[in-house]
Amino acid sequence: MNIAVNPSDPLARTAPLYERVKTLIPAVEWPVFAKDIDAILTLKESRNAVILAHNYQTPEIFHCVADISGDSLALAREAMTVDAETIVLAGVHFMAETAKLLNPEKRVLIPDLEAGCSLASSITAEDIRGLRAKYPGVPVVTYVNTSAAVKAESDICCTSGNARKVIESLGVARVIMLPDEYLAQNIAAETGVEIITWPGRCEVHEQFTPAEIREMREAHDGLVVVAHPECPPSVVAEADFSGSTANMIDFVGRERPKKVVLVTECSMSDNVAAQYPEIDFIRPCNMCPHMKRITLPKIRRSLETMTHEVTIDPAVAARARLAVERMLEI
Ligand code: 13P
Ligand code: SF4
Repeated sequence: MNIAVNPSDPLARTAPLYERVKTLIPAVEWPVFAKDIDAILTLKESRNAVILAHNYQTPEIFHCVADISGDSLALAREAMTVDAETIVLAGVHFMAETAKLLNPEKRVLIPDLEAGCSLASSITAEDIRGLRAKYPGVPVVTYVNTSAAVKAESDICCTSGNARKVIESLGVARVIMLPDEYLAQNIAAETGVEIITWPGRCEVHEQFTPAEIREMREAHDGLVVVAHPECPPSVVAEADFSGSTANMIDFVGRERPKKVVLVTECSMSDNVAAQYPEIDFIRPCNMCPHMKRITLPKIRRSLETMTHEVTIDPAVAARARLAVERMLEI
């Protein structure tokens, strides 16, 4: 990209960032991104803010404005190491709530309050109380993809990155694990623990089918298949590797397959492909509409207006925090 050097020019200032995404974003489109990115970088400093971004954020967010990126587990852990006064969570609402639970004294902003999750909206605190009454004494393990109110009713949380460890740490033959029935079934198969599930599903991952994976293998010789454990067990069974989004990225970095498909949300392949241009990414694209609510203009506005602040009822927060902290101790 040919950029005239003018220190007051966002294009000049963001030129090194463009290098990170030039295989994904056409040069002709960059000026639009550059203006917002430049403004966000300035606002981050003046507001003493950091941006935590999930691996499903679009490349211009993931590679150009995020200070920290990762899976749900990494974002929770990293949220606790932040010195800045404000955290902007470029991800969905439960992630921002988790960051707030772990940083009650900090201001946590989410650029769009409507950025939800089909798993989080599949279950309420009342549902957990009903399950406890039905299965007295059985521990409740709650996926982090839930509201703080649901976490508050749980014994311990887990993410896709540590679900197996969390379940095994309990040392019991039977657990209630919710709300993702596919994740629960995948973990039950790995651990041999009997798992009582809940009929929640990720609207992105439930769409993948084993037939689709077999077709891709037929069309692409030597294809390596990496699937997220929110996929149906029949899809995970077709994969060469399954793990959280961070584990999927690590797998690609470690194994450097010639051709790979990441059976998960669209932006993952974009973000990882930018790092490994020599790898051929086959891209079936299932998009998370909630993750895609977060855009550069909304992040900019969030920092300009210091909205939308995430708040949690202190009584709920105290109990929910315990469930998250128990997970982080494992
Ligand atoms: P990870 O914790 O693996 O990043 O998953 C979060 C998520 O929402 C996947 O759909
Ligand atoms: Fe929720 Fe699925 Fe979107 Fe992740 S990808 S935020 S689990 S709807």
